[in-house]
Amino acid sequence: MAKILVTGGTGYIGSHTVVELQQAGYEVVIIDNLSNSNINVLDGIERISGIRPDFIEGDVTDIETLRKLFKAHPGIKGIINFAASKAVNESVQKPLLYYRNNLVSLLNLLELMPEFGVEGIVFSSSCTVYGEPDRNPIDESAPIKVATSPYGNTKQISEEIITDTIYSGAPIKSIILRYFNPVGAHPSAEIGELPLGVPQNLIPYLTQTAAGIRKELTVFGNDYNTPDGSCIRDFIDVTDLAKAHVIAMRRMLDNPDGDKLEIFNLGTGRGLSVLELIESFERATGVKVPHKIGPRREGDIEKIWAEPSKANNVLGWKAEMDIDDTMRNAWRWQQKIAAKTK
Ligand code: WQD
Repeated sequence: MAKILVTGGTGYIGSHTVVELQQAGYEVVIIDNLSNSNINVLDGIERISGIRPDFIEGDVTDIETLRKLFKAHPGIKGIINFAASKAVNESVQKPLLYYRNNLVSLLNLLELMPEFGVEGIVFSSSCTVYGEPDRNPIDESAPIKVATSPYGNTKQISEEIITDTIYSGAPIKSIILRYFNPVGAHPSAEIGELPLGVPQNLIPYLTQTAAGIRKELTVFGNDYNTPDGSCIRDFIDVTDLAKAHVIAMRRMLDNPDGDKLEIFNLGTGRGLSVLELIESFERATGVKVPHKIGPRREGDIEKIWAEPSKANNVLGWKAEMDIDDTMRNAWRWQQKIAAKTK
């Protein structure tokens, strides 16, 4: 089977995707600068798949590091590009860091692919490119809205860079995957989300509150135009999401005459509110989550969930996990890392 480069492969979605790639028979090489992840993730990956991926500690924004990697690992046929900074509010404080990190890394990969015979790149994009949808569920034909953060803008610009490169006739293909809200952890509890510092995203903050690490979860607003007043999202299990990347890679590499560029929304098609997610966690685990209603968070989208039929029918992928099972996996992972950090 082909050799795949996974940039950001010790990260949350990256590590889960590495496991699925290995279990599908692909050989995996990871490059990660460990700026937002931990090298011990390699042990967790190996404990699940039995295979320790090749690992290079390095920065994808440095083209010479990448060139050296391709020379040292001939035969890489595909890339999955996760390496990027991803904290929405941090991007507002540090826009240049986000534009440099997220865009230069992609430019380097695209420039080197033809030189080293790399055929396809799967790009990790986000539903954030849609902004506040005019209607839900949202499919791939929905308009791209003006970005509400430099982070979201780097995703939009990255998609345009890929599109223009392919339309210029470059000998490469790409599949762009627009994630909704990735949540949960591997059922083995060997890998999961490892937020550094105070978690910005809902699930890690929720599980840390359930574990007593945080005193109370604040629900950012219950005065939205939704049934229970809290925001609605499409929470997609990280393993379901990881599996979509393997299918996308196979589709690109096994169909030389296939489309050179495809875009898919990766969501469950089910909108859940923040309060409903808290209920799911408490029902699934039997653990109460102390929480209160607080003010709205600046920049939050009111409601967004996917219309995933293109991914279901064209890509041949469908989210399968039940949200309560996903919450149980998230809790099992939280208990595992809490034990480790004692
Ligand atoms: C979800 C909901 C909050 C924390 C962003 C990016 C997206 C992707 C995921 C990187 C919102 C509410 C949250 C809390 C809360 N980024 N919330 N209390 O903002 O939907 O998506 O992160 O991959 O591209 O846009 O995710 O988890 O931060 O928030 O009430 O302590 O939970 O208001 O409604 P978001 P989130």
